[in-house]
Amino acid sequence: VTTVLSPDDRTRLIASATAVRERAYAVYSSYQVGAALLATDGRIYAGCNVENANYPAGICAERSAIASAVSAGARAFSAVVVVTVNGVAPCGICRQVLNEFAPDMWVVGVDTSGHIHFERNLRELLPLSFSRADLA
Ligand code: THU
Repeated sequence: VTTVLSPDDRTRLIASATAVRERAYAVYSSYQVGAALLATDGRIYAGCNVENANYPAGICAERSAIASAVSAGARAFSAVVVVTVNGVAPCGICRQVLNEFAPDMWVVGVDTSGHIHFERNLRELLPLSFSRADLA
């Protein structure tokens, strides 16, 4: 159970998510999001939201980070930091996608000033979750 992020990892994740947020392709909403995943081996994978003229084809920063990490061979994560202007929590679809790989991960919402708005286990953000084990 990862309920503690080391100060060093916290700092690295916030820096990574804040930096990648600047690359967000958010020409429709102007709402830029950056996400940084901490893999269990200590590596960090980042992603930003990528919008599209066909609005529903856009992807959130959290799923963008998951795609980047899985593409690089990482599948186990202990935490994710999401940076937005107002420190929001991941959307429902992203909670589900994070749950696929790291149901026990620590989720942190940070604003662009570095202020932490919430932090808690993904299990609290996605109670009674549906997962791979339910497909038996
Ligand atoms: N967005 C994210 O990237 N993550 C979230 O958790 C909330 C929403 C993006 C999707 C869209 O590009 C923009 O923010 C506005 O909804």
